[in-house]
Amino acid sequence: MQSVLFVCLGNICRSPLAQGIFEHQIRLAGLEPGFDADSAGTSGWHEGEPPHSGSIAVARKYGIAIEKQRSRPVHAKDGEIFDYIIAMDAANRDSLIAEFRFPKPKVHLMRDFSLSPDNKKGLGVPDPWGKTSAAFEEVFAILDESIAGFISFLKERHERL
Ligand code: 4NP
Repeated sequence: MQSVLFVCLGNICRSPLAQGIFEHQIRLAGLEPGFDADSAGTSGWHEGEPPHSGSIAVARKYGIAIEKQRSRPVHAKDGEIFDYIIAMDAANRDSLIAEFRFPKPKVHLMRDFSLSPDNKKGLGVPDPWGKTSAAFEEVFAILDESIAGFISFLKERHERL
Protein backbone atom coordinates (compact mmCIF):
# COMPACT_ATOMS: atom_id res chain seq x y z
CA MET A 1 0.00 0.00 0.00
CA GLN A 2 1.36 3.42 -1.03
CA SER A 3 0.07 6.52 0.73
CA VAL A 4 -0.31 10.00 -0.75
CA LEU A 5 -0.84 13.33 1.03
CA PHE A 6 -2.01 16.37 -0.98
CA VAL A 7 -1.09 19.71 0.59
CA CYS A 8 -2.14 23.34 0.07
CA LEU A 9 -2.39 26.35 2.38
CA GLY A 10 -5.92 26.15 3.79
CA ASN A 11 -6.90 22.55 2.91
CA ILE A 12 -10.31 23.80 1.77
CA CYS A 13 -9.88 24.61 -1.96
CA ARG A 14 -7.09 22.84 -3.88
CA SER A 15 -5.91 19.84 -1.84
CA PRO A 16 -9.40 18.46 -0.98
CA LEU A 17 -10.19 18.62 -4.70
CA ALA A 18 -6.88 16.90 -5.51
CA GLN A 19 -7.67 14.13 -3.01
CA GLY A 20 -11.17 13.65 -4.47
CA ILE A 21 -9.93 13.54 -8.08
CA PHE A 22 -7.08 11.17 -7.16
CA GLU A 23 -9.43 8.75 -5.35
CA HIS A 24 -11.85 8.91 -8.30
CA GLN A 25 -9.17 8.21 -10.94
CA ILE A 26 -7.62 5.45 -8.83
CA ARG A 27 -11.03 3.80 -8.55
CA LEU A 28 -11.63 4.07 -12.30
CA ALA A 29 -8.21 2.53 -12.97
CA GLY A 30 -9.00 -0.40 -10.63
CA LEU A 31 -6.01 0.50 -8.43
CA GLU A 32 -7.98 1.23 -5.25
CA PRO A 33 -6.40 -1.49 -3.07
CA GLY A 34 -2.92 -0.16 -3.76
CA PHE A 35 -3.24 3.47 -2.70
CA ASP A 36 -4.49 5.53 0.18
CA ALA A 37 -4.93 9.34 0.04
CA ASP A 38 -5.41 12.22 2.47
CA SER A 39 -5.01 16.01 2.35
CA ALA A 40 -3.85 18.73 4.75
CA GLY A 41 -3.00 22.44 4.98
CA THR A 42 0.28 24.13 5.91
CA SER A 43 -1.96 26.41 8.02
CA GLY A 44 -4.63 25.37 10.52
CA TRP A 45 -6.81 28.38 9.65
CA HIS A 46 -9.77 26.30 8.48
CA GLU A 47 -9.36 23.26 10.73
CA GLY A 48 -12.52 21.17 10.94
CA GLU A 49 -14.25 22.97 8.05
CA PRO A 50 -15.63 21.20 4.97
CA PRO A 51 -14.14 22.06 1.57
CA HIS A 52 -14.96 25.44 -0.02
CA SER A 53 -18.36 25.55 -1.75
CA GLY A 54 -16.59 26.27 -5.07
CA SER A 55 -14.54 23.07 -4.78
CA ILE A 56 -17.57 21.02 -3.70
CA ALA A 57 -19.59 22.37 -6.66
CA VAL A 58 -16.98 21.74 -9.36
CA ALA A 59 -16.24 18.25 -7.99
CA ARG A 60 -19.95 17.41 -7.96
CA LYS A 61 -20.26 18.62 -11.56
CA TYR A 62 -17.78 15.90 -12.55
CA GLY A 63 -19.38 13.22 -10.37
CA ILE A 64 -16.99 13.41 -7.40
CA ALA A 65 -18.19 13.83 -3.79
CA ILE A 66 -15.77 15.70 -1.51
CA GLU A 67 -18.17 17.30 0.99
CA LYS A 68 -17.41 14.78 3.75
CA GLN A 69 -13.75 15.85 3.92
CA ARG A 70 -12.65 18.11 6.78
CA SER A 71 -9.70 20.50 6.81
CA ARG A 72 -6.76 19.58 8.99
CA PRO A 73 -3.29 21.08 9.41
CA VAL A 74 -0.14 19.21 8.39
CA HIS A 75 1.49 17.32 11.28
CA ALA A 76 5.26 16.81 11.50
CA LYS A 77 4.74 13.02 11.58
CA ASP A 78 2.99 13.13 8.17
CA GLY A 79 6.49 13.37 6.71
CA GLU A 80 7.27 9.90 8.07
CA ILE A 81 3.85 8.32 7.46
CA PHE A 82 3.19 9.24 3.81
CA ASP A 83 5.15 7.88 0.83
CA TYR A 84 4.29 10.75 -1.54
CA ILE A 85 3.60 14.32 -0.45
CA ILE A 86 2.19 16.46 -3.24
CA ALA A 87 2.33 20.24 -2.74
CA MET A 88 0.05 22.49 -4.78
CA ASP A 89 2.61 25.30 -5.16
CA ALA A 90 6.20 26.23 -4.38
CA ALA A 91 5.26 28.09 -1.16
CA ASN A 92 3.56 24.92 0.16
CA ARG A 93 6.55 22.80 -0.85
CA ASP A 94 9.09 25.14 0.76
CA SER A 95 7.07 25.26 3.97
CA LEU A 96 6.85 21.45 4.13
CA ILE A 97 10.62 21.14 3.78
CA ALA A 98 11.80 24.14 5.87
CA GLU A 99 9.11 24.40 8.55
CA PHE A 100 7.83 20.83 8.88
CA ARG A 101 11.18 19.17 8.04
CA PHE A 102 9.62 16.70 5.62
CA PRO A 103 12.19 14.55 3.77
CA LYS A 104 12.92 16.43 0.52
CA PRO A 105 12.73 13.39 -1.82
CA LYS A 106 9.14 12.69 -0.72
CA VAL A 107 7.89 16.21 -1.53
CA HIS A 108 6.74 16.90 -5.11
CA LEU A 109 4.98 19.71 -6.94
CA MET A 110 1.56 18.67 -8.30
CA ARG A 111 2.02 20.15 -11.77
CA ASP A 112 5.42 18.53 -12.27
CA PHE A 113 3.50 15.29 -12.97
CA SER A 114 1.53 16.84 -15.82
CA LEU A 115 2.06 15.19 -19.19
CA SER A 116 0.94 18.30 -21.06
CA PRO A 117 3.70 20.12 -22.98
CA ASP A 118 2.17 23.46 -21.89
CA ASN A 119 2.76 22.62 -18.28
CA LYS A 120 6.22 23.91 -17.50
CA LYS A 121 8.07 22.48 -14.53
CA GLY A 122 7.77 24.47 -11.33
CA LEU A 123 4.32 25.92 -12.02
CA GLY A 124 1.90 26.01 -9.11
CA VAL A 125 -1.80 25.17 -9.02
CA PRO A 126 -3.36 28.68 -8.78
CA ASP A 127 -5.20 29.48 -5.56
CA PRO A 128 -8.92 29.96 -6.34
CA TRP A 129 -9.78 31.26 -2.85
CA GLY A 130 -11.90 34.43 -3.10
CA LYS A 131 -12.32 33.95 -6.88
CA THR A 132 -15.29 33.03 -9.11
CA SER A 133 -16.45 29.56 -10.16
CA ALA A 134 -14.35 29.92 -13.36
CA ALA A 135 -11.21 29.81 -11.19
CA PHE A 136 -12.41 26.56 -9.55
CA GLU A 137 -13.08 25.12 -13.04
CA GLU A 138 -9.52 26.01 -14.07
CA VAL A 139 -8.13 24.36 -10.92
CA PHE A 140 -10.21 21.24 -11.61
CA ALA A 141 -8.82 20.98 -15.16
CA ILE A 142 -5.21 21.46 -14.00
CA LEU A 143 -5.61 18.90 -11.21
CA ASP A 144 -7.43 16.35 -13.37
CA GLU A 145 -4.65 16.42 -15.96
CA SER A 146 -1.77 16.51 -13.44
CA ILE A 147 -3.25 13.63 -11.42
CA ALA A 148 -3.61 11.50 -14.57
CA GLY A 149 0.14 12.05 -15.06
CA PHE A 150 0.84 11.26 -11.40
CA ILE A 151 -1.10 7.99 -11.64
CA SER A 152 0.83 6.98 -14.79
CA PHE A 153 4.03 7.67 -12.84
CA LEU A 154 2.80 5.58 -9.89
CA LYS A 155 1.76 2.70 -12.17
CA GLU A 156 5.20 2.59 -13.72
CA ARG A 157 6.97 2.83 -10.39
CA HIS A 158 4.83 0.28 -8.58
CA GLU A 159 4.13 -2.18 -11.37
CA ARG A 160 3.09 -4.94 -9.05
CA LEU A 161 0.20 -2.96 -7.52
P1 4NP B 1 -6.34 26.52 -0.43
O1 4NP B 1 -6.96 28.00 -0.58
O2 4NP B 1 -4.93 26.69 0.10
O3 4NP B 1 -6.36 25.98 -1.81
O4 4NP B 1 -7.25 25.78 0.53
C1 4NP B 1 -6.96 28.93 0.46
C2 4NP B 1 -7.92 28.86 1.44
C3 4NP B 1 -7.94 29.81 2.46
C4 4NP B 1 -7.00 30.81 2.48
C5 4NP B 1 -6.03 30.89 1.50
C6 4NP B 1 -6.01 29.94 0.48
N1 4NP B 1 -7.02 31.78 3.52
O5 4NP B 1 -6.24 32.76 3.43
O6 4NP B 1 -7.80 31.63 4.49
